[in-house]
Amino acid sequence: MTEQTISTQQDAATAASNQRKVFIKTYGCQMNVYDSERMGEALAADGYQQTEEIEDADLILLNTCHIREKAAEKVYSALGRYRELKARRLKQGRETLIGVAGCVAQAEGEEILRRAPDVSVVIGPQTYHRLPEALQKAKAGQRIVDTEYAVEDKFDYLPKKERSAQPKNVTAFLTVQEGCDKFCTFCVVPYTRGAEVSRSRQQIVDEARRLAENGVREITLLGQNVNAWHGSGPDGADWGLGELLFDLADVDGIERLRYTTSHPRDMDERLMEAHRDLPKLMPYLHLPVQAGSDRILKAMNRRHTAEEYLALIERIRQARPDIALSGDFIVGFPGETEDDFQATLDLVEKVRYAQAFSFKYSPRPGTPGADMKNHVPEDEKADRLQRLQAMLTQHQLEFAQSRIGMEMDVLLEKPGRQAGQLIGRSPWLQAVVLDGAGAAIGEMVRVRIVDATANSLAAQRI
Ligand code: SAH
Ligand code: SF4
Ligand code: F3S
Repeated sequence: MTEQTISTQQDAATAASNQRKVFIKTYGCQMNVYDSERMGEALAADGYQQTEEIEDADLILLNTCHIREKAAEKVYSALGRYRELKARRLKQGRETLIGVAGCVAQAEGEEILRRAPDVSVVIGPQTYHRLPEALQKAKAGQRIVDTEYAVEDKFDYLPKKERSAQPKNVTAFLTVQEGCDKFCTFCVVPYTRGAEVSRSRQQIVDEARRLAENGVREITLLGQNVNAWHGSGPDGADWGLGELLFDLADVDGIERLRYTTSHPRDMDERLMEAHRDLPKLMPYLHLPVQAGSDRILKAMNRRHTAEEYLALIERIRQARPDIALSGDFIVGFPGETEDDFQATLDLVEKVRYAQAFSFKYSPRPGTPGADMKNHVPEDEKADRLQRLQAMLTQHQLEFAQSRIGMEMDVLLEKPGRQAGQLIGRSPWLQAVVLDGAGAAIGEMVRVRIVDATANSLAAQRI
C-alpha cells in the first residue's frame, strides 16, 4: 500500500468521524413517513448522515403526530428523556441539537420551546425545505419556530436527485395531496396540515418515473384526503385521482398502485372506473367510516349517512368484485349511546372489513368535538372498543382464511425472520411468508396460500 492511499484512507476515516449525524424518529401516519424521508434527503444534501444510534446523533429530529392525546404526550416524554442524553454528550464535548417537526410542532409551536427547554427548532409540515436554514440559526444559538403555511411549495424546494441515491426499496410512498378541508369535528388534521393542496400531475408522474428507475415496483399515493386530489391533464382538462391513476399505470416498471386515505364523499365515477379497468390498481381500499349511527355521523360532520356509505361500497364492489375494504373507527364520540354503538357493530357486520383500525375518541383542543356535551366515560369507551375490536379481528381472520388454497401474485419485499424466507405482500396488503428458494426481493411471484393467521399468510411457489 502506498503512503498516498494510506493518507487518503485516513482522510476518509476522519471525514466519516467528523460527519454530522441525524437521528430521525417518526410518529403518526404514512405522510409523516414520507416527509421524514424527504427531510432526511434535505439533510443529507446539507452534510448529515442518518444514524439509528441516538447516542451518536448531533441532531435529533422528531417528526410528530397530534391525532390523539397519547401521541402528543409521547413526544413530550421522549423530549424529557433526551435531556440527560444531551447533557452526557456535552460532557464529552459534543453538541446535540433537538428539532421537533410535524403536527405537534404545528399545533403547539412556541409552547414546545416553553415545555422542552432543550429543543432549538420547531418546524411545521409545510416548511421542511427551510430546515437546513433553521439549523444554521440554531447552531448560532437561536431558538427557531417556523410553523407558517409557506407560500412556496416545499416539494419544489426539497432535493430531488438524492431520492435516486437511496437504498433500493421495492415499495414507496408518494405524497400527491396534503391538508384537509373536511373539518370532521373530532379531527386536528385541518388545523395541523392546513387547507387541501394538490401537487401537479407532472411533478407526481416525474417522481413515479424516478422511483421506477430506482427499482420501485409498487407505489402508494398518499394524501390526508387522497381522493380529493385534483389537477390538470396535458390538454388542460380537469383531472381527478381516477385519471391520475390511469396515467401512473402507464409508467414503465410500476406494477402495483395503491392510494390512501380516501374519504367516502370523494369517490367519483372515474375512480370507480380505475378500479374496474386497471389491473395494476390493487383490489384493496381504505375507506374510513368512523361510525355507523347517522346521528353520530352528523355530529362528526362526516356529511354522509350509513346507508349512503353502504351503497357506495356496493358500487365499488360492482366495479371490482374482489376488492377488500379497510376502515377506521372511533368509539365513544360525545353523545354516543349504546344504541349508536350498536349501529357501528351492525355496519361492520354488513361490510366485513379485511382490516381495520379503531380508536377511543380523544378530545383534541381547538376542535368542535372537544367542546361538545355528553362526553362518554373512559371505561365505557374502553368497553366498546374491546367489543368492536373483537368483531373486527374475527372478520380479519376470516378474510385471511378465505385466501387459503388461492393462487395469487406476491411482490417480494424483504427477507423473513428465518433463513431462506422471503416476505411479500398479497394484492390485499397482507404479509405473505414463503420459502424464498430461487426468488429475489423485488420479484413478483405466483404462489398458492397454504395457511393463514389474522396478520399473515403462508405460501408456496407454483
Ligand atoms: N383523513 C382520514 C383520517 C386521518 S386521521 C379520514 O378522513 O378518514 C386517521 C384516523 O384517526 C381517523 O380515521 C380516525 O379514525 C382517527 N382519529 C382522528 N381523530 C381522532 C380523535 N380525536 N380521537 C380518536 N381517533 C381519531
Ligand atoms: Fe380529519 Fe376528517 Fe379530514 Fe380525515 S377527512 S383528515 S378525519 S378532518
Ligand atoms: Fe398524525 Fe399529522 Fe398524520 S396528526 S396522523 S401525523 S397528519
